[in-house]
Parts: sequence; C-alpha cells; structure tokens
Amino acid sequence: MRRRSFLGLLSGVAAGAALAGCGLSGTGQTGERLVSTARLPKPFRVPLPVPPVARPVGTDLYRITQRMAEMEILPGLRTPILGYDGIFPGPTIETRRGRPVTVRHRNELTVPTVVHLHGGHTPHEHDGWPLDLVLPVGDRREWTGHHGTGDTSDGERDYRYPMNQRAATLWYHDHRMDFTGPAVYRGLAGFHLVRDDEEDALPLPRGDRELPLMICDRSFDEDGAFAYPGLDQEMRSVAGVRDEWMEGVLGDVVLVNGAPWPEHEVDAARYRLRLLNASNARRYRLALTVPTGPDLPLTQIGSDGGLLEKPVPHQAIEIAPGERFDVVVDFSRVPVGTKVTMVNGLGSGGTADVMRFHVVRRARDDSRVPDRLAEVEPLVPPTGARTRTFQFSRGSTGDHRGWTINGRSFAPGDSLADTRLGEVEIWRLVTDVHHPVHVHLDPFQVLRRDGKPPGALDVGWKDTVDIQPAEVVDIAVRFTDYTGRFVMHCHNLEHEDMAMMATVRTV
Ligand code: C2O
Ligand code: CU
Ligand code: CU
Repeated sequence: MRRRSFLGLLSGVAAGAALAGCGLSGTGQTGERLVSTARLPKPFRVPLPVPPVARPVGTDLYRITQRMAEMEILPGLRTPILGYDGIFPGPTIETRRGRPVTVRHRNELTVPTVVHLHGGHTPHEHDGWPLDLVLPVGDRREWTGHHGTGDTSDGERDYRYPMNQRAATLWYHDHRMDFTGPAVYRGLAGFHLVRDDEEDALPLPRGDRELPLMICDRSFDEDGAFAYPGLDQEMRSVAGVRDEWMEGVLGDVVLVNGAPWPEHEVDAARYRLRLLNASNARRYRLALTVPTGPDLPLTQIGSDGGLLEKPVPHQAIEIAPGERFDVVVDFSRVPVGTKVTMVNGLGSGGTADVMRFHVVRRARDDSRVPDRLAEVEPLVPPTGARTRTFQFSRGSTGDHRGWTINGRSFAPGDSLADTRLGEVEIWRLVTDVHHPVHVHLDPFQVLRRDGKPPGALDVGWKDTVDIQPAEVVDIAVRFTDYTGRFVMHCHNLEHEDMAMMATVRTV
C-alpha cells in the first residue's frame, strides 16, 4: 500500500517541472535550471537539521535500511524520498582511523542500489563498483542490462571499510551505473566522518560547535515531490528527455542538511563547519555576509582528504559537486544579535542564499585554530614519472549523445589506465566545460592549473578537483594497498550518468 501511494505521488514529476534557460555557461555553472512549481517558503524560516549519528548494532557493525519515506521539506508539503534509514541526509556514520567497520545495507526500495563511500580508502569489492548491485529485498526481476553484470547481492550487502586512512569528512551515496543522479537527488546521501587521535588532540571546535553541512539544490513539483526530469516511476529508464538535461540538473531551492535555506542559532564562538557540496551539478561560491561590516572569513583547516598542514583563510570558497571544505568561522567577531548569511556568489534569485546563522548569545570558547594542524606528505612525482592525459568532453559520435573521457563512454570492462600501486603518476585533466573530476581509492594533490601553481582552494589532499572550462589541471596520484578495478569520473551526476566515467585498474 505504501509503495503504491508513493509511486502515485511521483508520477507527475516530468509534467510538473519546467525547463528554463538553456546552458548556463558564463554563470559558473554547467547545467539547466529546473523551475519548481511548488510554493516555496521564504528563506531562513526553518531550523537547520543535524543528521543523527548512527549507533553501531554490534561491535563495529552498522545497519542501514534503504527505504522510501516522506519528509516535510517544504512547510506543509510531503516529499517522497529514498532514504538511508528513511531519512535525508542519511544518518552520519562516525568511525575511527585504523578501526575497520562493516556497514550492512538492506535495500527495501524498488530499485537496485550501489553504496559508495566517497573518500574511502576501500578495496574494490566494497567500494561500490557501479555494477555491483544490491537488489531490492525479495525482488526477482532481471536488472542486469547491456553493461553486463557485477557482483550482485540479494537484498543485503556488507560493505567493509578498513578505515586505514586519515581523519576526514567522507560521505556515502548511491553509485548505480546510469542512475546515480536520480538516486542521490531523491535522497540517497549521508555523511561519514573519520576521526583520529591526531585530530582529536587539536583544540578545534567540537560537540555542538562542529556542524556537518550538506549543501544541495533541488526543485519541487506542486505536490512537494522532488522534480527530476524524465524519471520514470521506478527509475528503470530516463530515456527521452535525458539529452536536454545532459549539462546537469540545477534546482532552484538550496537545501542544507535537507532543509530549505535554514537558520541556525549559534553562540558568539568559533564553529567548525564541514562543508559538502552534494548537489548533482551546481557549484557555489560561499561567503558569510554580515549586514554591517565586512564578511566573516572562512578559515580552511581541511580538504577532501583531511587536515591541512596549516590553516588557510578565505573570503569565499568555491565548491563543486563532491568536494568538501572543512572551515572554522568565528562568530564572536560580530555582536550578539547579528544575522550572518551564507550566500552563494554564483547563484541568482533563490540560489543566491544558502542559510543563515543567528548569533544569539555570548559564550565561553576554549577552541583555537593552531598554526600547525597536521603533517601532510607532499606527493612529489619523480623525474620521468608516468604522465597520462584525460580529456573530459562532450561526446559527438553519431546518435549517441553524452559525455566522454578520451573520447570514450564508460565501458566498465575496459581500463583506461593500469596503475602500479605505490607509484606517483601525473594525471593531466583537460576539460571543455566545467567538470569536477573525482578519483576513487586514494586522494591526490593538485600540482598545476594551466601551468601555474595551484590555487588557494587546491591545498591539501583532494579527491575531487573543480576544473574550469578549457582548463588543464595536473594532479599527482598514487594508489596504495588494494589492487582491482576502480573508477574515476566527473562528479556532475548527469555527466557521470551520461557516461563520463572510466575504469582505472590498480596492479
Ligand atoms: Cu562521490 Cu564515485 O563518487
Ligand atoms: Cu568516490
Ligand atoms: Cu562533467
């Protein structure tokens, strides 16, 4: 019964959503705007939710059930979601470096899923290979397609994470081949924080003053359903309208932790904000504006792969899909009563705002940002290091539109690069339009942008790098520990689903 009504609610999606504008290059975006037909709330009226922290059900064992649910995202409307434990964002998993954990996922949805831990240093079998499906519980249908089949599980799958990696902000999300965009859009994303002793020893803000912030844009149908173009009820096919949306789907509502333009009451003290851009295609330029006075600086302490060597102050942070920035903000620099707005310099209308912090009280603050945060090993390619070039561009062959890497659509069985464990290689990433490029298994470091030194936002260990149109970015990569097949891809999820992905084999 539940399922029937859920599907009923979704059937209006394609009809209710409208396509606006066409190609938004020049606005810092690659994508098409999808206009909500739902009544949208005024910003800063809804409190910021903080996702619950998952409790282990046994020693180092977590269980997550993927199921459909309804959430009140827009006040007064119900939004059907696909949720880890029926919530969006999913529960936050917190683990410790060096302590392996298992996350047992159970699929009670009507579609197959794949779970990927983004930023995880994870062996192939547990990394969420796009064809390693977890079928819905009790589902006997044939789900394998022309791509062949992976290691399919019936109903449940144990993902084992060695957690042999630095403390960092990771996130988990769906990664099913061709369907990651709609699955994540409908709610399959959550935080996974890795902690370690080195980081715990630092006097950084913690407890209530450490906030994971999952930022993403969505559009809504009149009845409150997430609008996603051309999605059929069971996500089995999105044929037909896909081509028009190949640039990426841009929503007109900005959600933080699943709430539209929320407001959060804060102490006049330092806060650690773990920023994640979980949008399908939207990039943001985040800044903290104050009604009177200069913007509050964002002091970056960490990147995708954990703590930086030393803090880096920024006036604004550009963040592309998949990226994380760990920042400290000092709200004691403004008077109590001040409303500090997180704005998006790349947005317009509703997407120019993200959320608001209301500084409500004076408070004691023992936290500090030390001048030295952590040891970061520089990844230096040896002379004669192997260099590979990957060209990210629009596909142009015949009737098949889509995105390609080195002129090829994702072919899971063919490796575009066989890389030896432990060797530092230079990967030259070349683009046509914006592409945030993500590499699985191990983080990398940015060496050069267009032949020049890396930018202020490129510091530290990265696993996703934001590449501007017609830019050439060199990164130093080194894979360790696990041989097998992994992927690298564009993290604009529409580009990814339209084949901008490649297999990389570690040997
Ligand atoms: Cu966040 Cu391969 O993905
Ligand atoms: Cu990943
Ligand atoms: Cu792309």
